[in-house]
Amino acid sequence: MPERGLVIAIDGPAASGKGTLARRLAAQFGLPHLDTGLLYRATACALLDDGRALDDIRAAVEAARGLALCDFDEARLRSRELGEASSVVAAIPQVRAALIEAQRSFAARSEGAVLDGRDIGTVICPDAAVKIFVTASAEKRAQRRALELASRGERVDYAHILEDIRRRDERDSGRSSAPLKIADDAVRLDTTDLDIEAAFAAARDIVREKAELAGKVG
Ligand code: CDP
Repeated sequence: MPERGLVIAIDGPAASGKGTLARRLAAQFGLPHLDTGLLYRATACALLDDGRALDDIRAAVEAARGLALCDFDEARLRSRELGEASSVVAAIPQVRAALIEAQRSFAARSEGAVLDGRDIGTVICPDAAVKIFVTASAEKRAQRRALELASRGERVDYAHILEDIRRRDERDSGRSSAPLKIADDAVRLDTTDLDIEAAFAAARDIVREKAELAGKVG
């Protein structure tokens, strides 16, 4: 069998810091990175731009199938509005099905890959050599998200952001299709009391240990 590259699956709830960790791990280990949340955000964005309802299944599937990664306007996709809208379309099983293949083929690159999302370790890459589930308290996540949105010029109110986070946690964990949950073989990393450097150092150590165990270069 040909030697497969190192696949790192990073999952966790909204604003847990998984995106930053995934980006930094990808740079550290020289791997391509896919933020799968952007796929759901872009699907929701296409629907809103077309004046469609977020629960219009046919339009949502069409939007998901028609995504072009290179056209993503990240600044817009990362807005608070699209965070909320994306979790609505992400609960539609047909939308998830339409996005599976693109994610799996990204992960199947010979050099390996880092993917972050909600269901990477459970559904998209169940055989990933390294799985990390990143968590933090809802209050800490709301603080981080408020800072992030404010730094991009979005008007924010901490109490509303905390509400968004709690609602999204509930929707992402409670849906029937690929709910947010920790994979049996994932390592949990609680970043509530860790700054980004400390969280990165912990994640890097987990990758090295798991990659070595799996016989992959770490
Ligand atoms: O950055 P943040 O954690 O707030 O969200 P995101 O990772 O960009 O994901 C936005 C939404 O997409 C989530 O609330 C999920 O509902 C959905 N999502 C998902 O269902 N599965 C994934 N693999 C990634 C995101």
